[in-house]
Amino acid sequence: MNKIKNLFKKTIGPKLYNKFISVVINLLGVKTLTLNTFEDAKLFYKHSMVFKQNTYNKIESKIVLHYHAIEKGFLHKNFRYRFGEDRVRDLIKLLSLDVIRQNSKKSQIASAYLAICKYYEKHESENVDISDFYKLEDYKLFKKMVTLNMTVIKDWESGSYFNAVHRDFKDFSRSRKSVRNFKEDKVSLDTIEKVIELAKNAPSVCNRQPTKVYYLENKDKIDRILNIQGGLTGYTKEINQMFVVVADRNYFYSIGERNQLYIDGGLFIMNLLYALHYYKVAACPAHWGHPIEKDKEILEVIPLLESEKVLCIIPIGFPADSFKTTLSLRRENDEILKIV
Ligand SMILES: Cc1cc2nc3c(=O)[nH]c(=O)nc-3n(C[C@H](O)[C@H](O)[C@H](O)COP(=O)(O)O)c2cc1C
Repeated sequence: MNKIKNLFKKTIGPKLYNKFISVVINLLGVKTLTLNTFEDAKLFYKHSMVFKQNTYNKIESKIVLHYHAIEKGFLHKNFRYRFGEDRVRDLIKLLSLDVIRQNSKKSQIASAYLAICKYYEKHESENVDISDFYKLEDYKLFKKMVTLNMTVIKDWESGSYFNAVHRDFKDFSRSRKSVRNFKEDKVSLDTIEKVIELAKNAPSVCNRQPTKVYYLENKDKIDRILNIQGGLTGYTKEINQMFVVVADRNYFYSIGERNQLYIDGGLFIMNLLYALHYYKVAACPAHWGHPIEKDKEILEVIPLLESEKVLCIIPIGFPADSFKTTLSLRRENDEILKIV
């Protein structure tokens, strides 16, 4: 083998030989990347809830999507009666399934029974008829399943929202919420610099720090991005400042790291949210779980590099004088901690 290699090298010359070897290595890399990406896609196809809803976890995931939308509907200052009719119809169907009723004590199912009952009660108390899509007998059935004694939203005064930010980590962490209602006054650039300084303490793979933050306060640009993102409908008017968090692909050196940008970026985003909270700036992370076309659309608004992947947008600002946050009940430990 070595003989053939040496003969080949001698024939084409060492410079061309080295180029040839690097092309071969790159081609093998492209093959591995393609196979790995294909395997990622295959597993996503099989196990996400995009294509099938054939397992308990997938059904639960859909239920969470629906009940969270109901919770969010309760946040608005002007309650929109009959909102989310199609979701509610679907949720009624899902919450009536035997497999779901048998798991009524699981945190997310319990939360969904609570939300669907609060939805009914809100309309009943205001004499708004919803019987065309949500019948009394369904409500009665769900009411029997409710195990949580709480509300689906929490009311805040901006004065008290930051009470725990200088207490111990337990209180600090528990007190951060996604806030979607902001005052007109702007957070100063000086504070934003301090926030970024603190957020940078986030760890990253080999300290490569691939995460970058674009800061916007141009309302037109913000509105265009919010419009592309689409997940904050109903709250956009009050959003006057925003981060767009991206990760730069230049910093990843192996095919095994093809998804590392989301890990490093996610760690940074959490630290950024805590840094904002520490400096008494309210925020709501908003997803960028979009097909690649949306990454192209955002390029028309801000000059991202081709190497940069948008991970998340984060509207920020001082919280409104009074506002509401969702219950967003967390899972029980035994639903997530697996001791092996
Ligand atoms: C990656 C990510 C994307 C999110 N996207 C949205 C969004 O598009 N719209 C929205 O209103 N909230 C969004 N949220 C906020 C979640 O609804 C919120 O974090 C969750 O319900 C937990 O509530 P909490 O942040 O108040 O603890 C997002 C949160 C994360 C972490």
